Amino acid sequence: MAITHSVGGDVKDLALAEHGKRKIEWANQQMPVLQLIRKRFIKEQPLKGIRVSACLHVTSETANLAITLRDGGADVVLCASNPLSTQDEVAACLVKDYNIPTFAIKGEDNATYYSHLNAALDHKPQLTMDDGADLVTTLVTKRTDLIPAVIGGTEETTTGVIRLRAMAKDGTLKYPVISVNDALTKHLFDNRYGTGQSTLDGILRATNLLLAGLKVVVAGYGWCGRGVAMRAKGHGSDVIVTEVNPTRAIEAVMDGFRVMTMAEAARIGDIFITVTGDKSVLAGEHFERMKDGAVMCNSGHFNVEIDIPALERLSSGKKPARPFVDEYAMKDGRRLYLLGEGRLINLAAAEGHPAVVMDMSFANQALSAEYLVKHASELSKQVYAVPEDIDKQIAKLKLESMGVQIDKLTPEQEHYLASWSEGT
Ligand SMILES: NC(=O)c1ccc[n+]([C@@H]2O[C@H](COP(=O)([O-])OP(=O)(O)OC[C@H]3O[C@@H](n4cnc5c(N)ncnc54)[C@H](O)[C@@H]3O)[C@@H](O)[C@H]2O)c1
Repeated sequence: MAITHSVGGDVKDLALAEHGKRKIEWANQQMPVLQLIRKRFIKEQPLKGIRVSACLHVTSETANLAITLRDGGADVVLCASNPLSTQDEVAACLVKDYNIPTFAIKGEDNATYYSHLNAALDHKPQLTMDDGADLVTTLVTKRTDLIPAVIGGTEETTTGVIRLRAMAKDGTLKYPVISVNDALTKHLFDNRYGTGQSTLDGILRATNLLLAGLKVVVAGYGWCGRGVAMRAKGHGSDVIVTEVNPTRAIEAVMDGFRVMTMAEAARIGDIFITVTGDKSVLAGEHFERMKDGAVMCNSGHFNVEIDIPALERLSSGKKPARPFVDEYAMKDGRRLYLLGEGRLINLAAAEGHPAVVMDMSFANQALSAEYLVKHASELSKQVYAVPEDIDKQIAKLKLESMGVQIDKLTPEQEHYLASWSEGT
C-alpha cells in the first residue's frame, strides 16, 4: 500500500539546505555539458508539463539533473534509489530552494525506502527515471493503475537494464525504456573511471587503510571491475581478479592481474570488492577461509553480492568498529569487517562518482527524456539504446568543454573508409 507524504517530500532536516546548495553549485561547475543542455531546455521547454518521477541516488550531481529537467518544463519529484546513498543536505536544498519534492533520508529502513518510492509514484509519472529499475518493477507489480499514463522511462545502471531486459522478454515491461547505461558516454566513463575512483574513495574514507602492499580481490571484471582493479593497482595494491566469464578473465590476465577462483582468493585477500551485479559472490565458504582482519565491501547495485545472512550465521556477534565499518566476530576468533552494510560503498561512505563523469551520464538522461517525449509513441515495450547521435553529441560537447581538439576525416579519407575497392 502506498504511503502518501506531504507535497514537499520527506528529508532529514531542511536546516541542512545551505550546505546542500554549496555542494550542488560546486558539482554544477564540473558539469558543462549538462549546463549547455539546461540553457537550451530553458529556452525550448521540451519537457513542458511532463510529470517525471526519478528514483536516483540523491547526490549533488543528481540535483543538477533534477534542476535541468525542471528548467526544461518538467514537473519533477525525486526519491532515493538506495537507502544509504542520499546526501541529506542535497535533499534538503532540493526541497527548500528548488521546490523539487524529494523523498530520501540517508540510512532509511526498507519500509521507508519503499514508502518513499511509492510517494514518488503518487506523482502519477509520465516519465520514470530509474537507477536499478525499482520504480518500473513497483509500477508493474503493485501500482498497475498508473501504467496507462506512462509514456516511457530511462534506466541508469547495468543491474536495472538486466532486470528490464528480463521483463521485456516475458512481456512484463509495459512501456519503452531507454538504457542510459548502454551509451558509450555512460558506461565507458561512469562505470569504469567513476566507480573505479569512488569505490576506493569509499573504502579509504571508511577505513583509512593504506592500499599499497595489500592484496585487493576484485570480483567481476566488467566496466566497474576494470576501473576498480586499475585504480587499486595504481595505489600499489597486489590486485587479484575473480570472474565467471572466460573472455573477461583473459582480459584481466593480459591487463596484468592474477586471476583465480574466489575459493582460492578468499585465503589470501586483505580487501574484497564485489562489482558483479550477481548474488552471493562472497558466501559462507569464503568467510570460513578468510584471514583475520579481512575487509569486505560491495560496489555492485544491490546488497546481495556479499551473503550477509550467512555472515551473520557464521559469526557470534557484530559491533561497529568505525562509521560504515562493522566488525563480525567469527566463532573461531577471527574478525571480519563489512563496509557500508554491503551496500554500494562509493555512495554509502563517499560521495559517489565525481561530477565530471556524471556530467555525461546525466546529459544522456536529460536528452533521453527529451527523445522519449518526442518519440515514445513510435516505440514498443522494449529496452532501447540511447540514439547514437545523442551519444556522439555528448562526447563532442565533453571534449569541447575539456579544450581538447581532434582531427577530422578529409573527404579523401571518408571515401577510403566507406569503400571496399580502395587498397586493392
Ligand atoms: N557503484 C556504482 O556507483 C555503480 C556504477 C555503475 C554500475 N554499478 C553496478 O555495478 C555492477 C557491475 O556493473 P558493470 O557495468 O561492471 O557490469 P558488467 O556486466 O560490465 O560486469 C559484471 C562482471 O561480473 C562478472 N560476474 C558475474 N557473476 C560473477 C561471479 N559470481 N564472480 C565473478 N564475476 C562475476 C560478469 O561476468 C561480468 O564480467 C552492477 O550491479 C551495476 O549496476 C555500480
